[in-house]
This record gives sequence, C-alpha cells and structure tokens, in this order.
Amino acid sequence: MRLNSPRMTVIYNACMKASKSMIRDFGELEKLQISAKGPGDFVTNADKRSEKIIIEELLKAHPDYGILSEESGEINKNNKDRRWIIDPIDGTMNFLKGVPHFAISIGYEENGEIVCGLVFDPIKNELFFAEKGNGAFLNNSRIRVTNKKKLFESYLATGGPKFNSKCKDKVFEEYTKVSNIVNAPIRKFGCASLDLAYVACGRFDGSWQWELSYWDIAASIVIVKEAGGYVEFLDESASKTIKKNIIATNSVIHEELKHNLLKKIIE
Ligand code: IPD
Ligand code: CA
Ligand code: CA
Repeated sequence: MRLNSPRMTVIYNACMKASKSMIRDFGELEKLQISAKGPGDFVTNADKRSEKIIIEELLKAHPDYGILSEESGEINKNNKDRRWIIDPIDGTMNFLKGVPHFAISIGYEENGEIVCGLVFDPIKNELFFAEKGNGAFLNNSRIRVTNKKKLFESYLATGGPKFNSKCKDKVFEEYTKVSNIVNAPIRKFGCASLDLAYVACGRFDGSWQWELSYWDIAASIVIVKEAGGYVEFLDESASKTIKKNIIATNSVIHEELKHNLLKKIIE
C-alpha cells in the first residue's frame, strides 16, 4: 500500500482481517444455495462477522473514536469529531446470489469531513484507497478520473430504487431520461461503493443514486475527490446525517449530468 499514515494502516489491517472471513464465507455459499434453509441467514451472519472484526480492530487502535456502522449503528455516539464509517459488506444481494461483486468500505471522518478511506473488493483483490491531499490509489497505482467531456459519450452507473422507495417512479423516469442521452446503456452493478471507486479510476465517467446510506459511499467520497473527481449531494442531503442523494463524476460532465437529473426528486 502506498499510503502509510497511522489511520490508513489501522483501516487497512481491519479490512484485510475481515476480508479473510468474508472470502471463506463466500466460498461456503455454493453449498448453502441448495440447502433447505437457503443462504439468507448465513449471509446476515457473514455481514455481522465482518463488521465485528472491523469494529474490534478499530476500537483496539482508538477506543474513544465514534463509529457509524450499518449493522451496529452508532458506538461512542458523543465523539462526532473523529469517527469511522463502516459498511461491512456493500453489495449484499450480489454476495447472497454468488455474484462476485461486493466490497468492504471503511471511511474515517474528522470534523464532518471524510479524510481517508478504502473500498476493498476481496474477490478481484482490488483495493481502492485515498487520503486527503495525498491522491487516490488502486493497489499500487495512482488513479485519476477520465476527461470525458460530453454526457452522451459517457459511461455511467446508477442503482436502486429500493423496493419500498417512495420515489420509485421518479427514479425510473430519470433513468429513462438520462438513458436517452448516453450512447452506452447505464450500468447497475449493485454495489454503490464500487460504482464510485470505478469513477475514481476512470472505468466510469460518472455515477448517481438516490436514497443511499452514508456508509454505502462515505469512503468513496475521498477516493473520488482525490482522483480529481467531483462529489455532490443533492436536495440538501448533505445536511442529512444518514440518507444521501449523490452525484459523483469526473467533474467535466458534472453540470450536464446534474442538469438532466430531476431536481426535486425527493419531496
Ligand atoms: C446497497 C448497495 C446497492 C445500492 C443500495 C445499497 P448493501 O448496500 O450499495 O448498490 O443500490 O441502495 O443499500 O445493502 O448491499 O450494503
Ligand atoms: Ca451498503
Ligand atoms: Ca451492507
């Protein structure tokens, strides 16, 4: 790993330890698909196992830091100035179905800003990471966003809507609208943290999604920014602590994409 600040080292070690158990669990899934009970409970447990390992490691290093994690909620609630934001498995549905596209996401937030973070895809062995002011990396290589200038030539990713979303119709409407502009179909890979990491390394030119949770994308924010991209939260979701409507792009196509998204999609 090219960054060796104490905090990056802490999150890297926590992530690598959790990923070993995750890879083992993913390997077991094949057997479970055919069992009577099915893999649902097993995956919930895999999620919890991964989270437990990460939290234990982070607390060992900094017992007083706050934590916001998908399964456990908040720990050390009063420490809002220094906290870890964790998604132990982002892309759970892919994991559950045996689709090898999911990630561990851990971000570190200081005074409300994510200043370092990593997103690790344990199956492809791809580690995306960044620290404010020090650039973004994929494994040992520096990464940068694309310089694609036109939306119609752009390769985009999105996700959702969730089954119980209140703005389903509008999300579909928006998908149709943007699809009619771009010449390559918009991708939905089911792992928001990796969608954004892929913007950072130039595989996608941009990504947007409504109603994400903060832990889905916290670490990716600093990765996209440090790769030269632009991240914005729409409809005042920046001020909401957990729900986020995000646009992340190479920065060049940002205004054009934003202009084509429905502004008041969440009432
Ligand atoms: C989900 C993934 C997915 C996104 C959903 C998220 P989970 O997270 O990031 O790509 O479309 O909105 O909830 O549940 O797999 O951790
Ligand atoms: Ca998630
Ligand atoms: Ca998750």
